[in-house]
Amino acid sequence: MEFKIKTGELAAQKTPCLVVGVFEKRRLTESAERLDAASNGRLSALLKKGDLSGGVGQTLLLYDLPGITAERVLLLGLGKRNEFTRANYRQALSAVASVLQQSGAEGATLALPTPLPRGLDLYTAARDAVLMVEERCYRYTRTKSEDKQEPKRPLKRLNLWIAARGESASVELAIHHGQAMAEGIRLARELGNLPGNLCTPTYLAEQTQVMAKEFPKLSVEVLDESQMQALGMGALLSVARGSRQPPRLIVAQYHGADTETKPLALIGKGLTFDAGGISLKQAADMDEMKFDMAGGAAVLGAMRAACLLELPLNLVVIIPATENLPDGAANKPGDIVTSLSGQTIEILNTDAEGRLILADALTYCERFEPETVIDLATLTGSCVIALGKHPAGLFTNDERLATELTAAGEATWDRVWRLPLWEDYQEQLNSNFADMANIGGREGGAITAACFLARFAKKYRWAHLDIAGVAWLSGKDKGATGRPVALLTHWLLTRAGAL
Ligand code: BES
Ligand code: MN
Ligand code: ZN
Repeated sequence: MEFKIKTGELAAQKTPCLVVGVFEKRRLTESAERLDAASNGRLSALLKKGDLSGGVGQTLLLYDLPGITAERVLLLGLGKRNEFTRANYRQALSAVASVLQQSGAEGATLALPTPLPRGLDLYTAARDAVLMVEERCYRYTRTKSEDKQEPKRPLKRLNLWIAARGESASVELAIHHGQAMAEGIRLARELGNLPGNLCTPTYLAEQTQVMAKEFPKLSVEVLDESQMQALGMGALLSVARGSRQPPRLIVAQYHGADTETKPLALIGKGLTFDAGGISLKQAADMDEMKFDMAGGAAVLGAMRAACLLELPLNLVVIIPATENLPDGAANKPGDIVTSLSGQTIEILNTDAEGRLILADALTYCERFEPETVIDLATLTGSCVIALGKHPAGLFTNDERLATELTAAGEATWDRVWRLPLWEDYQEQLNSNFADMANIGGREGGAITAACFLARFAKKYRWAHLDIAGVAWLSGKDKGATGRPVALLTHWLLTRAGAL
């Protein structure tokens, strides 16, 4: 999607469709008032007929308004004026994006509302608009025949209109940042939605290499099975043994700052299909385990955004990629493996594989002497039980990092909620036969998974995001969300001093 900023007389905007907001009980926003004045009260006269009250997300399309250059005017309900929250604003944006996408119009102009949603600055309001419209207009097409693809004439251009020319700089910046985020999100969604037979560890590695050709500041190294063997990545390789697909350790480095600057590291779980292994999952919804590489996809998405924004920082992205399938060579309950760190692990449940591959990636990451490490993983169903599907679970023992990531989540509405990472939980991982077990029992499953990872992340500042509840939607809207690319990109923007 192409976004542009527009200022100047609203009634004179040349566009196929001009969108202005209306509050509940037919109270006009400032921009709607401008159109009402230009059309000699026609807008309010039409509204009086009662076709639109202004409830959140309601829309009404009007043609041939006198005194207005736009071909159509689309009224958008924003809810009650004194309850104009960001949530309502986003809901309205989502509704209008759907209508525009179905309308057949290839371009539109959206008047950013005045007043703005409560507590929201213009930058964030504009960036929300970019991100919501992009989110709504994304269509997965890769494995669908052309005649099955909808819509036929998608929206291609959206202008954001503001009254005050003097404020255009913050909107320009919002568009710049929002588009880069959106492109990262799109990449993460696309990779997530691709089925497991196409999106294999090898495919993920190839896509990363393709990206490195596009951006000169990006370099990629892909470790194969024998290289991982030589290093001693016994935990990761034990998971891969159950699969015909060869595993990959994808290591990408973005050099945006001088070589002395310590890198930020992002590690994403790249489980391209998780059947559970010998501890086989139930059949229902097992297809959704193609999304188990969403952490890997998200770190690639954030990396893409960082490249597009040319952020002045150094970044290391690591994706341990494999499948988890049952096979004669697969891990068996009770098997003990030696991780790259030297610590031994008793595998009591082969379906707790994410932590095994992440353990070796976390240890491998030490060699980059990272300033901070964040890992992202669709790690536990337990996290979804604890928090539902709205926030990701945040685990860290670094207070500053907790604050930063929580704030980045709020700023992008890609929110996280912190859960404890106390030593008290560690004893649940005790094993009679190895240094630790790979599961900690029913209680606090998301926490014991994080505690397991913590044992491999002692050498640096670290946070873990359990994105099992947020990385994809189920049901009729089944598909990858691209979360938390927005959060990560915002965090990188702040770390780069760009905000
Ligand atoms: N990828 C799953 C976690 C998952 C399950 C995410 C369902 C979203 C929906 C992970 O590998 C897994 O299987 N975790 C187990 C851990 C358990 C065996 C301790 C789980 O959560 O059931
Ligand atoms: Mn699993
Ligand atoms: Zn998994």
